[in-house]
Amino acid sequence: DWTMSAYREQMIAKIRAQVGSKRVLCALSGGVDSAVAAVLIHEAIGEQLTCVFVDHGLMRLGESDQVVSLFREHFNIPLVHVDASDLFIGELEGVSDPETKRKIIGRLFIDVFEAEAKKIASDGKGAPEFLAQGTLYPDVIESVSFSGGPSVTIKSHHNVGGLPARMNMKLVEPLRELFKDEVRALGRELGLPDFFVGRHPFPGPGLAIRCPGGITREKLDILRKADAVYLDEIRKAGLYDTIWQAFAVLLPVQTVGVMGDGRTYDFVCALRAVTSVDGMTADFYHFDMTFLADAATRIINEVKGINRVVYDVTSKPPGTIEWE
Ligand code: XMP
Repeated sequence: DWTMSAYREQMIAKIRAQVGSKRVLCALSGGVDSAVAAVLIHEAIGEQLTCVFVDHGLMRLGESDQVVSLFREHFNIPLVHVDASDLFIGELEGVSDPETKRKIIGRLFIDVFEAEAKKIASDGKGAPEFLAQGTLYPDVIESVSFSGGPSVTIKSHHNVGGLPARMNMKLVEPLRELFKDEVRALGRELGLPDFFVGRHPFPGPGLAIRCPGGITREKLDILRKADAVYLDEIRKAGLYDTIWQAFAVLLPVQTVGVMGDGRTYDFVCALRAVTSVDGMTADFYHFDMTFLADAATRIINEVKGINRVVYDVTSKPPGTIEWE
């Protein structure tokens, strides 16, 4: 696409002009936006960029490994992978209020990232002066038009909000003029694999907000498995790209079931799928009942700890896409 290749060259020139010979830090979230920003900036300034992936242990099945190998092997971009799952899950254990979960995750994220930045700053190559972010145009508009409510929290985490001010860093935001579909096109232009570029959005707080009630490692493992089976079914049915977001939620409710000649007393899994243009409004996805029945059967058969599956038929508004 000629427009995107022109844009790419233009952005590379702009990044070089802004940054000069200074160093840049980039916090990778595992999502498309920060990955595209990082690859673009790397193309512009090479080794002056250091990418940090704070792994909170709340990613989906296999996702952390995918991010690490995409950067290290596919792009040959050095990446600092901080496994902070013990810290995050330890602090979250027993916390059930959604906003408290978000605050804990946001605070720990900043702590861990800041500690990592200090290590990088003392490696003898000079302290980084810039922080790269994958802020998109809708994020820019939204942070202006919203004055309260949960979206402020959402954005403050999503854009690692407190970081630049606290660390006294200048921002590099090469995607500020782009919409999501344009970021995906730019990602393809930069050679990011299709499976990565086409990924559904994933919230910063990760699986913590898809596990209503208290979080435990065991519950997160159950949720991860159910989510992987559900998404596998969606991909096999050829529906992945039609759907804006699809995921499993593990409810803090146990129900009675029968399996073989035994009674079970296991968790309920809710399945969510929506279509949307920008995530601001959304319609629940009208699956074929056969699809849902097959997905439910597979989840119950393959995931120990779940014996009942329900489908969420709430659109946004009045629901939100995530359950928390
Ligand atoms: P809701 O649930 O508010 O979600 O309808 C709208 C979109 O935003 C994502 N989302 C988040 N993204 N940090 C993020 O980076 C968050 O705290 C957060 N909460 C929700 C959600 O997945 C959907 O795409």
